[in-house]
Amino acid sequence: MFLFLTLVQFLSLQVEAEVYFYDFVVREKNYTRLCETKSILVVNDSFPGPEIRVHKGDTVYVNVHNQGYYAFTIHW
Ligand SMILES: *[C@@H]1O[C@H](CO)[C@@H](O)[C@H](O)[C@H]1NC(C)=O
Ligand SMILES: *[C@@H]1O[C@H](CO)[C@@H](O)[C@H](O)[C@H]1NC(C)=O
Repeated sequence: MFLFLTLVQFLSLQVEAEVYFYDFVVREKNYTRLCETKSILVVNDSFPGPEIRVHKGDTVYVNVHNQGYYAFTIHW
């Protein structure tokens, strides 16, 4: 019986979904390589952007602040 309860508790911990909130500030940044300057979109000044590490079943909210010159779409 005790083992069964422990197992149920373990399983319910496994399926407990978490909620995550992220803020992404996206803008253009000039990037020079081999004497050539290109404009790239960066998230919080980094390319590639920050890693989002979550588990299956979790809920993720990402607020994207577009501080660039153009409209864009973002997908995963
Ligand atoms: C990105 O930058 C904003 C503003 O500085 C900050 O609030 C946010 O936590 C940062 N997001 C990530 C994922 O680092
Ligand atoms: C990138 O360089 C161009 C050309 O010099 C300039 O007009 C633009 O403002 C720069 N962009 C940023 C984000 O610094």
